[in-house]
Amino acid sequence: MDIALIQAAYIVAALLFIMSLAGLSKHETARDGNVLGMVGMGIALVATLWLSLRDAVWSAWLLIAVAMVIGAAIGIARARKVEMTGMPELIAMLHSFVGAAAVLVGINTFVATSDLVGVEGEAVHLVEIFLGVFIGAVTFTGSIVAFLKLSARISSKPLMLPARHWLNLTALVVSAGLIVWFVTAHSIVPLLVMTAIALAFGWHLVASIGGGDMPVVVSMLNSYSGWAAAAAGFMLGNDLLIVTGALVGSSGAYLSYIMCKAMNRSFVSVIAGGFGSDGAVSNSDVDYGDHRETNAAEVADLLKNASTVVITPGYGMAVAQAQYPVADLTSKLRERGVDVRFGIHPVAGRLPGHMNVLLAEAKVPYDIVLEMDEVNDDFPDTDVVLVIGANDTVNPAAAEDPTSPIAGMPVLQVWNAKDVVVFKRSMNAGYAGVQNPLFFRDNSAMLFGDAKERVEDIIKAL
Ligand code: TAP
Repeated sequence: MDIALIQAAYIVAALLFIMSLAGLSKHETARDGNVLGMVGMGIALVATLWLSLRDAVWSAWLLIAVAMVIGAAIGIARARKVEMTGMPELIAMLHSFVGAAAVLVGINTFVATSDLVGVEGEAVHLVEIFLGVFIGAVTFTGSIVAFLKLSARISSKPLMLPARHWLNLTALVVSAGLIVWFVTAHSIVPLLVMTAIALAFGWHLVASIGGGDMPVVVSMLNSYSGWAAAAAGFMLGNDLLIVTGALVGSSGAYLSYIMCKAMNRSFVSVIAGGFGSDGAVSNSDVDYGDHRETNAAEVADLLKNASTVVITPGYGMAVAQAQYPVADLTSKLRERGVDVRFGIHPVAGRLPGHMNVLLAEAKVPYDIVLEMDEVNDDFPDTDVVLVIGANDTVNPAAAEDPTSPIAGMPVLQVWNAKDVVVFKRSMNAGYAGVQNPLFFRDNSAMLFGDAKERVEDIIKAL
């Protein structure tokens, strides 16, 4: 294959990636977006393999092919097994691979091109390597910590080292000094010292972030992994890797920005790793009084007499796989003339768009699935709210208690409705580890048990 043909294949792949991102921005077109991305990646892989075949010896090509087959086999096996609820930690793990690849490519590029001393453009080349390794190392350890936190292998509480902001700043300043040494001395020592610092920096950056802020961290690491890939593209002189990395980096950064806005966090302090629950205390010890329990028959009666119902699903709906009976209940109520809508918090569940995907899977019509801002003003006119496996995203403490770790995060104001039914299995706290005063309000009732079973009970009682 001619080099021009390979370049053409790269352009087609890049266009497909852009179309894929456009498709992924709406749930109606998300599946098509995925397909376009897969086709683009297929074209990119074939073209890159061809390029290496053209430039390299057969043995190198064979090595790449064997590595790809092993990688693909592990990837397919893992992806087939993963539950939707385990997706965020899998994604965090995958980001760490991109980071590790950027570090290895960077160090290898430096070693392989060490004879370029004095060549024009050498300084630029060295800066590329340095930045690529730095971003890659931060992404690598940061993603590993995110993986460990999301999979509950380590506590999701923020690590509050004394003077932690100074530690971060020192790491950045020392790295800035090391880049000067690296470019002037053309030595591997500053590169390796910086790699060690960046690995510790990435670890600390994510370790100091509390559970409630993890969604932003995952999308931020997604963005970092894109920039790490783009840096690797510069080092390898591969245009497609640069374009793809930049697409992932910038779309991840934009997603982080949207999520920061949704959670009322400052974007700049997120990037600096200095955000989170500074000094905030958990309110789990506060006595909010008694809660009221209800049962499926009572909830069915409430729903029969309601004219407007809003359902606010959360992570528990995903755990219980309750989306199918929820969709069934929705259509039964709509047949009776009840106005049923869904209110989706931007960080409900464990992934951006988690709830939308589940509801789309269960064929809930898109036009009744509303975003938080579209539904929040309607709660005072709502008869019944069904909070299905959601907790932090409906916690009034976020709006009312400045000492809460989730203070300032906009939430679904379900407590303004006439009646609120909360589906969960116990009085345990949600992801952020804070108690929810909603459960103790006079207009709230708890329906304990697995969300799927309870919704099925209500359908029977209707
Ligand atoms: P959470 O606050 O995690 O609450 C989920 C609730 O579901 C829990 O209180 C749990 O209570 C209940 N539950 C679990 N399994 C259940 C089952 N089988 N049946 C019934 N209930 C069940 O969820 P949320 O309101 O969706 O909030 C999301 C949280 O995750 C936020 O803190 C957010 O910051 C964080 N987060 C979000 C993302 C993204 S991007 N969306 C990523 C990472 C983290 P019981 O144990 O008592 O049943």
